[in-house]
Amino acid sequence: MATPGVGRSPDHEAWWRSAVVYQIYPRSFADSDGDGVGDLTGIVEHLDHIQELGIDVIWLSPVYRSPQRDNGYDVSDYQAVDPLFGTLEDLDRLLAAVHLRGMRLIMDLVVNHTSDQHPWFLASRGSRDVATSGWYFWRDARPGTVPGEPGSEPNNWGSSFAGSAWTWAPERGQYYLHLFSASQPDLNWDNPETREAVFTMMDWWLDRGVDGFRMDVINFISKDPRLPDGPLTRDGYGDGMPYFSHGPRIHAYLAEMKSRVFDPRPGSYLTVGEMPGVTPEQAREFTDRDRGQLAMVFQYEHVSLDADGDKWTQRRMSVNDLRDTLSRWQTALGDTGWNSLYWNNHDQPRVVSRYGNDATYWRESATALATVLHLHRGTPYVYQGEEIGMTNAEFAGIDDYRDIESLDYYARAVGTHREDVSVVLDTLRRRSRDNARTPMQWSAAPGAGFTTGSPWIGVNANHSWLNVASQRGVPGSIYEYYRALIALRHRLPAVVDGHFAAVETGRDQIYAFRRHLGDTALTVYANLSDQPVSLDRKDRLARDLVLANYPASRRDPDRLEPWEVRVYVR
Ligand code: GLC
Repeated sequence: MATPGVGRSPDHEAWWRSAVVYQIYPRSFADSDGDGVGDLTGIVEHLDHIQELGIDVIWLSPVYRSPQRDNGYDVSDYQAVDPLFGTLEDLDRLLAAVHLRGMRLIMDLVVNHTSDQHPWFLASRGSRDVATSGWYFWRDARPGTVPGEPGSEPNNWGSSFAGSAWTWAPERGQYYLHLFSASQPDLNWDNPETREAVFTMMDWWLDRGVDGFRMDVINFISKDPRLPDGPLTRDGYGDGMPYFSHGPRIHAYLAEMKSRVFDPRPGSYLTVGEMPGVTPEQAREFTDRDRGQLAMVFQYEHVSLDADGDKWTQRRMSVNDLRDTLSRWQTALGDTGWNSLYWNNHDQPRVVSRYGNDATYWRESATALATVLHLHRGTPYVYQGEEIGMTNAEFAGIDDYRDIESLDYYARAVGTHREDVSVVLDTLRRRSRDNARTPMQWSAAPGAGFTTGSPWIGVNANHSWLNVASQRGVPGSIYEYYRALIALRHRLPAVVDGHFAAVETGRDQIYAFRRHLGDTALTVYANLSDQPVSLDRKDRLARDLVLANYPASRRDPDRLEPWEVRVYVR
């Protein structure tokens, strides 16, 4: 078992402010035993890669025991490792190896819901007379309807994946609420025993030596107890978000978690709450230093700019919107709160394919987007493969997809709404979460060096040239650029603590900003487009260039090339 506290410096309270986090989606990272699914031993074998990049913290997506309906975001035992990934001893070995290298590790905490195979739910579903009877949201059918028939659900909410947010359980003669799939029933946080069970489980992991948690949809844990109908959406269901995305007791529960779980411990922990729909003002409250409820939150605004309402309806992202959003979040959280900074995770399409240009300006756009993100004020997250510019999957047919959300969407769009198959497939190619989940591309070998077996999801054909082996140690590669960018954060205090100010250039395609700390000013100029842009005289002032993604021979003082970025210090 790992020694608690190793790798942690209790004297430096907010150590996570200067940290860079690397997210591992274990299923797709590295397969050590050839069964086609990544595992914990595979991670241990690749820690050099992460350490050389300059990473401080690893966030491990769920490895708990799970029926894997939502790839582990449906937990049936919070205190066991799923055999798919290894054993608890493997996890302890990973934790020890991470700490030995001076890095830290945070776990994914999925406690808005459990799996429907969790013993708490199985018991609750079977009878109203068991201890966990009230641990979930059980409700009778709407009065005057036939229980179990469509339209009899307690309210009109739709679930995140597909269909109603309620499923009828004949054994109990009631409906249960699930904001995600029917296999993910929502826990009732209003019940004190439920909260205590979660807190006890968190204690168990912290005692094991983990350094914090990424908290899955944590802003959904407090629901308006009336569970009212929501406004109707395109798919015919009601939107429950107004009643659960910032519920009446959300601050009370997070404050209780802090005082019950974290405050009694020495040292400080990285806590990051995933919060769909959170506003900058709410995020400032959650991350307010004095309140200390959470270190930071994952907001969704900047990854929703190419969607029109729901995620399947696309629109073009405009650089103006992106700049406005990013700088608004910087300013709103200011010195009171703290931002998390991310482009990618296991739920988002690859940023270089999405906001960049993975065909003509693959290297340039991947590095420009990285620079903008990492030089903001906040803690940056790198999602596996982002450091080598991995792209969307380019799957040909529905059989290539694995994600519950993608498959549900396809069934509904093609089966129920009779939409054109090629249009639906095109939408999936751009928007599906599977884009993020193709195997990590370690080498040009047949399984991309990810597996010697048959991978659980297709390897991207571009692994023949886009892989770690072809970039590591190669000057000018995306991987080496990420190393330089991360090193800059660790070298220059202004990157961590500098105040943010947007710089107006009068050019739509340019995003420019400054970070001030004492006498140091760091200025970033980024052209976020495929066209060259001229620079004004005031922007041409000679200063020290500390980072650039175009070679000196191609840098023109009067203009920025497509996706060119320059970072100056004075
Ligand atoms: C979060 C996870 C996502 C999961 C959902 C339900 O958004 O990141 O992968 O499907 O919650 O747990």
